Amino acid sequence: MIFESHAHYDDERFDSDREKLLSSMQEQGIETIVNVGSDLKGTQKTVALANAYDFIYGAVGIHPSNISDLNEEVYEWMQQTSRLPKIAAIGEIGLDYYWDKDEEVKRSQRYWFCRQMELAREEGLPVIIHSRDAAEDTLKLVQGIHGEEIPGVIHCFSYSLEMAEEYVRMGYYIGIGGVVTFKNAKKLKEVAAKLPLEQILLETDCPYLSPEPERGKRNSSLNLPYVAREIAELRGISQEEVEAVTRENARRLFRKVK
Ligand code: NI
Repeated sequence: MIFESHAHYDDERFDSDREKLLSSMQEQGIETIVNVGSDLKGTQKTVALANAYDFIYGAVGIHPSNISDLNEEVYEWMQQTSRLPKIAAIGEIGLDYYWDKDEEVKRSQRYWFCRQMELAREEGLPVIIHSRDAAEDTLKLVQGIHGEEIPGVIHCFSYSLEMAEEYVRMGYYIGIGGVVTFKNAKKLKEVAAKLPLEQILLETDCPYLSPEPERGKRNSSLNLPYVAREIAELRGISQEEVEAVTRENARRLFRKVK
């Protein structure tokens, strides 16, 4: 059975067949799904999905590109919501300098990333971190607030093996998805081959980032076997082992998952 650690089934691209798709997951080998909020509306939908399906858990959080959704009132709502039994993490939170180059916006991203990390610490929940084009600032910030005391995963990892090892030293997991199957993903293939398997999680980030041979189409957790197979080939082990160990890893991290 596969543990899907990062999906966005609240996305409108699933509006036409969400229920049918989600109802078929377990019989097709997807045991557990963590649905991850990225803006306020998506986080509210995430809570509803987690309440509607036994095997779906939620993460509440605001993505760095959506921090205009955040204020003290929303923060307080997130705090209350994070105490619900089906909410297993704070995320996705972090820094994204790919779209935002403005220094003022970057400062604001860092402020709300910090606040949401502290929320996770206070509520005893793990974090799901998004970091794009912000390697140095993300690491500095996580180290600066003693991130080693807050368990978490660096999702859709896109940096070097050396950077992955820095996070692993702090106890973090590294989320690997469809990109690892792309021919030109040399750095990520190296990370997937060399990092301890005990620190890797499987994820899709669906509806985005479909693996080969489905690249370009809408992604779903049903494509995770392609990701597991690629990691297995890179490491010279069986696909079953990758699926079993990453499942154990996710259950260690997301402690509220039953
Ligand atoms: Ni995501």
